[in-house]
Amino acid sequence: MPDADLMDKLVSLSKRRGYIFQSSEIYGGTGSVWDYGPLGVELKRNIKDRWWSSMVHRRDDIEGLDAAILMNPKVWEASGHVDGFSDPLVECANCHRRFKADLPEVEGGQCPTCGTREAFGEPRMFNLMFKTFMGPVEDSTATIYIRPETAQGIYVNFLNVQGAARQKVPFGIAQIGKAFRNEITPGNFIFRTREFEQAEMQFFVKPGDDDEWFDRWMEIRMQWHKDLGIRAEKLRFHEHGPDELAHYAKKAYDIEYEFPFGWREFEGIHNRTDFDLSRHQEHSGKRLEYIDASSNERYLPYVVETSMGVDRTLLVVLLDAYREEDIEGNTRVVLGLNPSLAPIKAAVFPLVKKDGMPEIARKISDALRAAAVPAFYDQSGAIGRRYRRQDEIGTPWCVTVDGESVESGTVTIRDRDSLQQVRVSTDQVVLWIQERLD
Ligand code: GAP
Repeated sequence: MPDADLMDKLVSLSKRRGYIFQSSEIYGGTGSVWDYGPLGVELKRNIKDRWWSSMVHRRDDIEGLDAAILMNPKVWEASGHVDGFSDPLVECANCHRRFKADLPEVEGGQCPTCGTREAFGEPRMFNLMFKTFMGPVEDSTATIYIRPETAQGIYVNFLNVQGAARQKVPFGIAQIGKAFRNEITPGNFIFRTREFEQAEMQFFVKPGDDDEWFDRWMEIRMQWHKDLGIRAEKLRFHEHGPDELAHYAKKAYDIEYEFPFGWREFEGIHNRTDFDLSRHQEHSGKRLEYIDASSNERYLPYVVETSMGVDRTLLVVLLDAYREEDIEGNTRVVLGLNPSLAPIKAAVFPLVKKDGMPEIARKISDALRAAAVPAFYDQSGAIGRRYRRQDEIGTPWCVTVDGESVESGTVTIRDRDSLQQVRVSTDQVVLWIQERLD
């Protein structure tokens, strides 16, 4: 399938089936902001839950945090975002559209929108942070920023968390939350948006141990994506060259996926050294050093950061799962989602709307829900169409109640990928599905 078609098909499926809608659509939308519908919100939660489980619940050396989006504006001066978090911007003299100066389409001097030649003057720097005012007075003393990354909430809480949780270096702090960037050229659906979510973890280590921990985190994070079921051949590392490194990083690797529009980053692993802690120490006047109780050493730890875009990962998951199959001349659209990520785990159908089948099917879907297994009951339309509707949204199993169920107390369970059907005792359905989800 041509790559452009794949994106179009996914955008259309996402809207039609309730994964992702354009924000404020009835008003013509909002530039590059998206809403997650009933299935999208489940998929996103499942991705975040897996990340949180692997980072916080399954490790004793990482603590969780949920810091506020609004922070003291001095945080962003200290972090370097007020001065340094900018993109070069050029404006077309004819149509006044603005573009990032380093876009290949713009570098030739021709406006990609109206076609004017020699359209652009000198680039000027454009800060990507959204600004607003805190309190009733709208002047420069009341200006605050809406965070462009979640990481700073972790740095300013470093000693709070370390002391309260009695952690010893090396240890980490993990956080999932919204971040906002006034991107000049957003696009590609949910790939680059102005409001997005990050799952970030800052790992504090003794200076000198940073290279070893960096390598370790690279490996852990790549494996995590493979465990989601993302095809290994679509994943790779990209090391940042000196001109790509962010102002805070000594070394950085992206985890990239081969999107329909090329290889792009969806997670970054950064060696931020003691840049952030030392800047906050300097700007706040508060000591942020860690004291090693066993050796009495005092030092500012180095930080190895893993920073994953939740929305981009969700796009990777959807793109990687999407496939079309030809079955006896008909196209079957399938989202081959990892069952742990699928929004609905099982759909339950009575073969026909009579002979006691709906009652049995209802009982099974109620039992699944009671066991906190998201289930969907559907009795409308031909059975083949009901299967197809579930394949398209990634439901791994379809449970069908048929004539034999009434007599023998068994149902069929159809596997989304192999299309194999097995007969299972009605009272074993919940367990059968739970075992496979585990
Ligand atoms: N704290 C480090 C940091 O924010 P980043 O490379 O700027 O690093 C990390 O961002 C991740 O956040 C990216 O890999 C990407 O997945 C996601 N991200 C960044 N900007 C984004 C945007 N405008 N839209 C969607 N996701 C974005």
